[in-house]
Amino acid sequence: MTKRLFIKTYGCQMNVYDSARMADLMAPLGYAVAANAEGADLVILNTCHIREKAAEKVFSELGAIRRLKRQRQREGGRMLVAVAGCVAQAEGAEIQRRAPFVDIVFGPQAYHRLPELVARAARSEEGGVLDTSFPAEPKFDHLPQTSAAPGVSAFLTIQEGCDKFCTFCVVPYTRGAEYSRPGAEIIAEASRLIAGGAREITLLGQNVNAYHGGAPDGGGEWGLGELIHALARLPGLARIRYTTSHPRDVDAGLIAAHRDVHQLMPFLHLPVQSGSDRVLGAMNRRHTTDQYKATVERLRRARPDLALSSDFIVGYPGETDRDFQATLDLVGAVGYAQAFSFKYSPRPGTPAASAEDQVPEPVKAARLATLQAALQQQQRAFNQDCVGRLLPVLFEKPGRHRGQLVGRSPYQQAVHADAPAERIGEIVPVMIRATQPNSLAGEIAGERAV
Ligand code: 5AD
Ligand code: SF4
Repeated sequence: MTKRLFIKTYGCQMNVYDSARMADLMAPLGYAVAANAEGADLVILNTCHIREKAAEKVFSELGAIRRLKRQRQREGGRMLVAVAGCVAQAEGAEIQRRAPFVDIVFGPQAYHRLPELVARAARSEEGGVLDTSFPAEPKFDHLPQTSAAPGVSAFLTIQEGCDKFCTFCVVPYTRGAEYSRPGAEIIAEASRLIAGGAREITLLGQNVNAYHGGAPDGGGEWGLGELIHALARLPGLARIRYTTSHPRDVDAGLIAAHRDVHQLMPFLHLPVQSGSDRVLGAMNRRHTTDQYKATVERLRRARPDLALSSDFIVGYPGETDRDFQATLDLVGAVGYAQAFSFKYSPRPGTPAASAEDQVPEPVKAARLATLQAALQQQQRAFNQDCVGRLLPVLFEKPGRHRGQLVGRSPYQQAVHADAPAERIGEIVPVMIRATQPNSLAGEIAGERAV
């Protein structure tokens, strides 16, 4: 009999990818993915620990899951509850203490062992299986090939973990040391995704441009630029993206790829975090604002229409009004098409969490509001500039209204247009007519697929 598997995913795209692999792993054991947790045989929360609220959301979600688990029990069934991902890695014991009904807790490096963990939990009356080890063998070696259709735009994890140790960040602790998958394995997975209908692939990694995987022919190592060149030779792959990158790891090979590979989209998420050299130093980012600006300059020379995105943290310990002003100045100098900004959130075990000079909450809130207003203004201006332009849009799925499709511009904007469902998967020229808060609206201009 088919069993119901419900996975709820929090956080980054890497977690989205991991959740899909967990579903692949459980499919041969008779688990089919369900749309909700009611009556599920296995519920997995794939969690994120990057900021405080993310972890708190998990504990509140667990409260709801607990009620469903009890109900299932009253009906004579059993629901196994698993917590995966970075909260599991960082707070495994705390989860078992605060939510003892959780059967399995396992970290991002252990999910290839999921079938075994589920079997163990199912055998035991009490549950309580914990696996937050960092196995010596890379988990990628143990993952099955994906069975589900990948969709028009697919994710592919090429690199995981981080050795940078920015002082605010839990990732090096939860995801572990940097690991790059071998080039041949990535090419094989990309080929399968393309055969399954993917036209766009987003290469994922916590520090994706630190990629340094073995080249397929045994000929040394590939950097990200070389990998992108190789992927661009795969027939049928129309678009390549990558995220998230670190300014320090933008090398000449990657810049050359932006210049030479037309499939590489002119949109880059290049987090800078702060515009103050003092704060960047304290964060251990290992670059200055001038170096960041110079990198952006080189990228824009290689690809003049490159649109940029970034992450910012306000209220890092010791951040003064002057430091914050420097961040606003940097935003003004660079110009972003889109960006994410966050209040600094102390993460247990990270160096910045124990700094004495924490910034008061109201100051953080005020700075965040100011920064977000500036960033939103830039985003609106960028979107407004697209009105009246013809943009190639890769249609991905039906839009909100009947007869409408939604796709992405090269700059990652969502674009709505009236179009028949057969055009999903095509890249179509769309004349942009209007901007909406989170998307653009346009009309198909000509039938030519580009
Ligand atoms: N507090 C606030 N934001 C953080 N980020 C990472 N750690 C923290 C933290 N402790 C942000 C950074 C990073 C993004 C993924 O999350 O901006 O680039
Ligand atoms: Fe975290 Fe810094 Fe590594 Fe990014 S580069 S994952 S912010 S430690």
